[in-house]
Amino acid sequence: MRQILRFDELDSTNAYAKRNRSFLSDQTVLVARTQTAGRGRMTRQWLSEVGGLYFSVLLKPVQTRFLPNLTQWMALCVCESVREAGAEAFLKWPNDVLADGKKLCGILSEAVTGKKGFEALVLGVGVNVAQADLSQAGQPAVSLKMLGLPLTPEEILPRILDRFFEGYEQVVNRGFESIRAAYLARFPYLGKPVTIRCGTREAAGTVQTLSPQGTLLLQTPQGVTEISIGDMMV
Ligand code: BTN
Repeated sequence: MRQILRFDELDSTNAYAKRNRSFLSDQTVLVARTQTAGRGRMTRQWLSEVGGLYFSVLLKPVQTRFLPNLTQWMALCVCESVREAGAEAFLKWPNDVLADGKKLCGILSEAVTGKKGFEALVLGVGVNVAQADLSQAGQPAVSLKMLGLPLTPEEILPRILDRFFEGYEQVVNRGFESIRAAYLARFPYLGKPVTIRCGTREAAGTVQTLSPQGTLLLQTPQGVTEISIGDMMV
């Protein structure tokens, strides 16, 4: 059953969701006003001061084929929600939301497995909403407030969640193919030169398209390479 649990402070909403996964029900949303140990992708830290939106959705889908696509779906939902609020946001594959060329939202998705295999997926979302200063974020970052949009985290959260849960079953059952057109409409990198970094590996080329599975097809001097994970540098 869908429920929202709110906290003044947590170490990390993702860590809390993972620790408590066995007694939290499917579709539980954990929201924290601040995090003391907010985590980003690739073991980075996520600055979590008051004013940002920090939440995790705990999911226990029966069908697990399209788990990476749920992260892309969440990114698209955030992108559409902030656009509705007036931000000219767009997507940077696989699941960043940018505005003014800077990071507005990041998503850390973590699959938890146990003795019997897959147990849960935790989608952790950080949206820069009302922060006035993000100079300590460790990367170029922007908030809705800096874009001139005076919203609060409490106002933006239901817009994102309503959208996400409305399309959730469709993405669980049909994967990226069901959201590909909408995703591509917010993805401005087709035909653009990019470098994809994954750990110590890098691939440079031109973005050809996104496949029906949500992977990135990169035209390189050696031919077309299909990439399923990494950081896109533009
Ligand atoms: C990224 O590096 O782009 C992903 C950032 C994800 C941050 C969010 S904030 C809520 C949730 N809890 C965490 O510790 N991380 C995610």
